[in-house]
Amino acid sequence: MEIYKFAYQIIAEAGKVIRDSIDEEIQIETKSNPNDLVTNIDKETEERLFNQIMSTYPEHRILGEEGHGKDIQDTSGVLWIVDPIDGTLNFVHQQENFAISIGIYIDGEKYAGFVYDVMNDKMYHALAGKGAWLNEEPLKPLKDTELKTSLISTNPLWLTKEKLSGIYVPIVDNSRSTRAYGSAALDFANVAKGITSAYLTMRLQPWDFAGGLIIVEEVGAVVTNQLGEQLNILEANSILIGNKAIHNELLNEYFLPHKPLLEQIHTERFRGKS
Ligand code: IPD
Ligand code: CA
Ligand code: CA
Ligand code: CA
Repeated sequence: MEIYKFAYQIIAEAGKVIRDSIDEEIQIETKSNPNDLVTNIDKETEERLFNQIMSTYPEHRILGEEGHGKDIQDTSGVLWIVDPIDGTLNFVHQQENFAISIGIYIDGEKYAGFVYDVMNDKMYHALAGKGAWLNEEPLKPLKDTELKTSLISTNPLWLTKEKLSGIYVPIVDNSRSTRAYGSAALDFANVAKGITSAYLTMRLQPWDFAGGLIIVEEVGAVVTNQLGEQLNILEANSILIGNKAIHNELLNEYFLPHKPLLEQIHTERFRGKS
């Protein structure tokens, strides 16, 4: 079976398993800090996807948030970048607004992206160069918008950081309004659908954006870090995505005027680390 169809099928099945057990008690653990949670469902979902991919395609490689492939250093061959539950805090607190996110890359080239909004049974998917869909419906090319008449999304945390507030506060202030959804993958999906015009955040890991990246690019979004550079799919990155016009406005009028500060933050926090 074509990799794309296989991926679609195992993601939909994994989502159904989560939906069917949504009322069961979950085991919650903390990771790097008290607000960084992981549940047995995050781990079981990654394990399930890992086993299915490995038994069908033993030569493929998998980088997953919950432990698989942490030694992967290059993009050769077929690489699956997997976030079994993106939006774990939403999963724990709301039992909705979370997604399974997978990006598949072949020798470093984009192949396919999937963001599955599990509780709403909405599969955002894209085949690089061929288009993007929400379930069966093709997603439309994005229309240009400007910040003052746009809804954008970001994580409010960045407004509270002394160094970053000088960049983030004016953006939030000058937008029509700002949303915080709590799932980076769904933030990408929302931009792809055109219900938000841009998404900006200071730090995402490869599994947060690998799937969404391919979907938004298929509808004409511009995807860079906050210095206007291409994302490296094996490293943590800052993120700036949006339709062409708003991306240009945000990059040139809000981010690049702070280039020395952003360069410093990127060098200290991201480059060479993931
Ligand atoms: C998180 C979510 C959240 C984003 C964080 C991510 P997780 O992923 O995408 O929206 O702000 O940076 O870590 O941990 O729920 O998979
Ligand atoms: Ca996590
Ligand atoms: Ca994530
Ligand atoms: Ca996750």
